[in-house]
Amino acid sequence: MRVIQTVSELRSWRTTQAGGSIGFVPTMGYLHDGHLALVRRAHAENDMVVVSIFVNPLQFGPHEDYARYPRDLERDLRLLEPEGVAIVFAPSVEEIYPPDFSTAVVVRGPLAERLEGAARPGHFTGVATVVMRLVNLVQPHRAYFGWKDAQQLLLVRRMVRDLALPVEIVPVPTVREPDGLAMSSRNVYLSPEERVSAAALPRALFAALARFQEGERNAEVLRQTVRTELAASPLRLDYVSVSDCEVFQELEQVDRPALLLAAAWIGTTRLIDNVLLDPGKRSR
Ligand code: PAJ
Repeated sequence: MRVIQTVSELRSWRTTQAGGSIGFVPTMGYLHDGHLALVRRAHAENDMVVVSIFVNPLQFGPHEDYARYPRDLERDLRLLEPEGVAIVFAPSVEEIYPPDFSTAVVVRGPLAERLEGAARPGHFTGVATVVMRLVNLVQPHRAYFGWKDAQQLLLVRRMVRDLALPVEIVPVPTVREPDGLAMSSRNVYLSPEERVSAAALPRALFAALARFQEGERNAEVLRQTVRTELAASPLRLDYVSVSDCEVFQELEQVDRPALLLAAAWIGTTRLIDNVLLDPGKRSR
């Protein structure tokens, strides 16, 4: 496993040493089993795996947690070492954004503007811009993204289609803690009490998913199930939405593949989570 910190070294690796198919896993580090699921999938499907670790300042709002976002490169490298990763790209901010950097990749429409896009102005422009730059540097055959950040996954897929980028976006299911909480680098912000309460978010989503699996197709009933479940918890709901997976519009009836998405605050930490609602799938 080789750690590369500069754009020029990465470029020279890519043009002279990389061979076979390349799977790319972009991350902001402070790795957990969710990230490792992406790495393992990339390893299974490609000859070489590149993992990037870069806390991208462009995707944080001015009052968000960029400064205190958890960082521990040595720990991350220890976790990646047994995973058969070829390259860890861990650049500085100056490498990714030189002082004269002047370009942004702007995705328009509901995927960029609703839910997380509305709650975090500029966030998805930051994501699209860094993913575009990283993908162009690594030039992978496949890039792996988690369903945990479903709106980000759909937005990146939109950008790749719209700009005809020669990369396949591979979605990977959300990895959860035993009590259902989706793994996230930000879970370290939670106090022990908050950590216990946080499981109310997946519980609420899974309660609604159970109703969906019993045949409920009315989106408002599903949204209301989440609201009711969370009302009995210390979490403060930010949004709950049933959005289709293509256009990302709010649905009244779940008559096509959709996501039930929610964001909620616990203390000063914002949690997001979602479950897939697939009306094509019969369950019993
Ligand atoms: P980060 O939050 O570090 O996540 C990196 C990748 O891991 C994303 O694709 C995310 O969806 C996935 N992931 C995180 N938690 C997961 C879980 N519990 N189960 C499955 N996958 C999970 O997302 C970002 O970084 C950044 O926005 C990035 C894409 C790197 C651009 O800066």
